[in-house]
Amino acid sequence: MTTIHLAIFGIGNVGSTLINQIQNIKSKLLTEQGLDIQIPVITNSTLAFFSNDISGQWEVDFENFSEPYNVEDIIRHFKAINVENAIAIDVTASQSFIAHYETLIENGFHIISANKVANTLSFNYYKKLRKLLDENNKTFLYETNVGAGLPIIETIKNLHQSGEKVEKIKGVFSGSLSYIFNQFSEGSLPFDQVLNDAVSQGLTEPDPREDLSGKDVARKLLILARELGSDAELNDVKIESLVPKQLNGATTLQEFKQRSHELNSIFEANKSQQKEASVLRYVGQLDVLNNVLEVKLISEPKASPLGQLKGSDAIFEIYTESYNSQPLVIQGAGAGAQVTARGVFGDILRLSNTLIKKNA
Ligand SMILES: NC(=O)c1ccc[n+]([C@@H]2O[C@H](COP(=O)([O-])OP(=O)(O)OC[C@H]3O[C@@H](n4cnc5c(N)ncnc54)[C@H](OP(=O)(O)O)[C@@H]3O)[C@@H](O)[C@H]2O)c1
Repeated sequence: MTTIHLAIFGIGNVGSTLINQIQNIKSKLLTEQGLDIQIPVITNSTLAFFSNDISGQWEVDFENFSEPYNVEDIIRHFKAINVENAIAIDVTASQSFIAHYETLIENGFHIISANKVANTLSFNYYKKLRKLLDENNKTFLYETNVGAGLPIIETIKNLHQSGEKVEKIKGVFSGSLSYIFNQFSEGSLPFDQVLNDAVSQGLTEPDPREDLSGKDVARKLLILARELGSDAELNDVKIESLVPKQLNGATTLQEFKQRSHELNSIFEANKSQQKEASVLRYVGQLDVLNNVLEVKLISEPKASPLGQLKGSDAIFEIYTESYNSQPLVIQGAGAGAQVTARGVFGDILRLSNTLIKKNA
């Protein structure tokens, strides 16, 4: 039997869903695979609940028994309960939490992260982190950084490492922007109504300009490019922002909402200037050969895989030496707590399997 111990940082949408998914399958994993997953610590940004292993009542326990903490308290707790296989799970959206990665790695933790920040800081930091992981013989997995639960990073890594030349990746990487342009292109509603609909369904960030700015797509594109050996920086990504200057960050969110009808004529013009049987798509495109990273609004034939996209699905077309005229296509829900938590869980199992082999 192999036991792994998780410190889960972040118990928001994804973190709490992950904990429940683990609790539901825990005894089956133990009997069928000899894998015992224990969770001695869960935290939000200010409080932690310490135990030997949380129970099904973890939410009540967190409410009643959590206490202020710092990362050193967690490291001490893991040492006190004699942990062999420690994994820190970053399911925060925090910029500042990344500062703890080095301390955690140096104190024996592997890292699994849904948080994109560590992979989109400077390339120097990116290299430094990997060097530290190597020196400490620790693993860093982050499948959910791109495409939530879809197996994008692992697929690209496998292609690259096996010598298959990846030439281009093109796709709709964002669930919210997928929904907005799928609805807008097919229907007759003005753009602001489609946008409001996406906001009220909780598909966008509270300020939808975060999605429309293209920055989130740019981060995902950068993560994929670096996976293929690029040393690009976030600033190198050419982004066509969908937020016009007069409605950008200097305008308050409330003003933006009141004036979002100003977007209608812009996107209506884009729509009407297309060739027949075409639809608008906001895509990320990586030209690997020329190291060009672009986020832009394009017009796509309706009959293409990108053109046929539905709902809030993400789609990734991967063009390689062998998948050339017909790309390898990965498509499905590109956001959501269940699929994302399942993707993090997949990383936990992948890492556990390598730890089981090492311990055998
Ligand atoms: N939701 C999705 O569909 C999706 C898809 C792919 C990737 N992701 C990524 O998954 C991560 C989590 O997303 P979410 O939707 O679950 O976010 P969320 O609901 O906002 O939850 C974030 C959690 O992180 C905690 N937190 C914030 N700063 C922290 C810190 N410095 N140390 C420890 N905990 C901290 C928050 O605690 P407080 O409540 O105290 O602030 C909260 O419990 C994000 O990085 C997101 O980009 C999400």
